[in-house]
Amino acid sequence: MLKPPIPRMGGKSKLRKTILERIPEHTCYIEPFFGAGWVYFGKEPSKVEVINDIDKELINMFRMIKHHAPEIERMLQYNFSGRDMFEEYKHCTVEYLTEIQRAVRFLYLISQSFAGKGSTYGYGTNKIPSPQIFYKGVLEDIKNRLRNTYVENKSFEDIIKRYDRPHSFFFCDPPYFETAGYGSVFGEEEHLLLRDTLCQIKGKFMMTINNHPKVREWYKDFKIEEVQVAYSIAKEQKARKAYGELILTNY
Ligand SMILES: C[S@@+](CC[C@H](N)C(=O)[O-])C[C@H]1O[C@@H](n2cnc3c(N)ncnc32)[C@H](O)[C@@H]1O
Repeated sequence: MLKPPIPRMGGKSKLRKTILERIPEHTCYIEPFFGAGWVYFGKEPSKVEVINDIDKELINMFRMIKHHAPEIERMLQYNFSGRDMFEEYKHCTVEYLTEIQRAVRFLYLISQSFAGKGSTYGYGTNKIPSPQIFYKGVLEDIKNRLRNTYVENKSFEDIIKRYDRPHSFFFCDPPYFETAGYGSVFGEEEHLLLRDTLCQIKGKFMMTINNHPKVREWYKDFKIEEVQVAYSIAKEQKARKAYGELILTNY
């Protein structure tokens, strides 16, 4: 089982075994809210696979790993964990960078920040700086895994409509309802659009979401399963503890 190259808030590391056991037969596997892609990197490749996220820098990173993994590894080997370097990457003008430089910047900021959010330099007194990006060969495995995957950078409704067939399976892991966001808005309106889009599909879907009374009401016509997960990031833990987590399916 592969591990994603970056941490991501809401990443499904703890729930992935439970999710993998519930994936139905399909030909085309689609993740409209990819994030770090814990489920995709943990499962056996499907015949056809599609990954999508609205985050431009995140998707650029996966695209660049897919096409230029050795160059990214080569550039990263000259980096080290330092506050000045972190600030320099954080404040540089992204438009002046090449796509490969943008991917290196993103990997650096995410891996060297607190909670993988890319905003605050991450340091500690009982753990060493995150070394994961400096290991040679790590990105090579990710690159090979991505080789036969379509990589998209759109909003979920476009992707769901575009790839929907009776043999499609969507694993949907949207931002949790009423918890911290990812830079783009995902409120009640977006959740209802997601519900309405999923209601009309010919394929199958599985969705993971926080156990909120409104979510239960929106998806009352589908199969709802409650699961418990222990998360390590304090803020997230607090937000989810109140409700627990749901797995919703239309099969
Ligand atoms: C809970 S995270 C996904 C985590 C992922 N399953 C993992 O294991 O790392 C939700 C993701 O949805 C993305 N997102 C937010 N709004 C979106 C939209 N309108 N369309 C597609 N992706 C969106 C965010 O950028 C974020 O990466």
